[in-house]
Amino acid sequence: MTETPILSVSDLTVRFPIRGPFARKLGEIRALDGVSFDLAQGEILGLVGESGCGKSTLGKTLMGIQAPNSGSILFEGTEIAGRTPREARALRRRLQYAYQDPGASLDPRWKIGKSLEEPLIIHTDLPRRERLEKVREILSAVGLPAGHADLFPHEISGGQQRRVGLARILMLNPEVVILDEPTAGLDVSVQATVLRLFRELRDTFDLTYIFISHDLSVVRLMCHRVAVMYLGRIVEMGPVEELMEHPKHPYTQSLLAAIPRVNGPRVTENFWLEGEPADAAKLPPGCRFQGRCPHVQPICRQEDPPDRMVGARSVACHFAGDVFPPKPSTKEVQNA
Ligand SMILES: Nc1ncnc2c1ncn2[C@@H]1O[C@H](COP(=O)(O)OP(=O)(O)O)[C@@H](O)[C@H]1O
Ligand SMILES: [Mg+2]
Repeated sequence: MTETPILSVSDLTVRFPIRGPFARKLGEIRALDGVSFDLAQGEILGLVGESGCGKSTLGKTLMGIQAPNSGSILFEGTEIAGRTPREARALRRRLQYAYQDPGASLDPRWKIGKSLEEPLIIHTDLPRRERLEKVREILSAVGLPAGHADLFPHEISGGQQRRVGLARILMLNPEVVILDEPTAGLDVSVQATVLRLFRELRDTFDLTYIFISHDLSVVRLMCHRVAVMYLGRIVEMGPVEELMEHPKHPYTQSLLAAIPRVNGPRVTENFWLEGEPADAAKLPPGCRFQGRCPHVQPICRQEDPPDRMVGARSVACHFAGDVFPPKPSTKEVQNA
């Protein structure tokens, strides 16, 4: 890993207006509320949190699909937020976003080779011979035979379609790839294969990943660092082992308490994270987790906690490091 971050995000904010009849603005959702982090070359940063906390919005904003209201995104030291679409396209070629099932976006009427060649026709002036060469190289990197270039998507399996989708993302030599829920909907055995492929591709192509997932056990396997999001803000971020062994934010503690364990007692219910997150359109003054936090104090209802550094960890809690999860109260069941 080099010293300068490949990506440096600061104070990124995205708000979505809520409109009523006649497009009258009734309020706004703070989908990203002052998000900051650095990404080192070669790093895999996990991004976790409940549905609706802003993970995809962050991915899309980095990609330029969503414009931020404010904040800065430095890609290798160059500002990429607030560019014209034309400038942004050139800069962002080296940043790619992989949707949950990248194979689903293949054109069913096109042979796979054509789908893979297309980004090179649009974005480069490589001659045909070199384009085909590149198609073969990338197919082989994702573990598919060169002959697959002559097949249509319906002639290959779902798993192979996913690989082709990934291959398409790799055609333009990206440096940072945002993987948005890349293992959702896969069964466990296929999941392992896909995760292995991500690791191999990272080594082969020198990639850096932002790995979005709500599956903490997958994040633990894959990532170096993890950022935990809650209602548009990173509430805790740090090295993956440390954060998962000793979570310091009460929200992280509750998320971890909710994951089933493979070896050992399994907690079947989310035993103390109660209720729904606050309404993202009407955040209360103070901490956004106050309504669900078992340790809530008067200050939490008044002041939004700043990010506190505790060792290598940043924690947005007034009592970071000084609160502990209560003992599980519900029954533990034997591992099935
Ligand atoms: N295009 C949009 N217009 C309005 N609200 C949106 C839009 N995209 C996302 N949101 C809202 O922003 C919040 C964050 O959504 P999202 O980033 O998709 O969360 P996640 O990927 O973590 O599930 C949610 O409250 C969602 O309803
Ligand atoms: Mg999402």
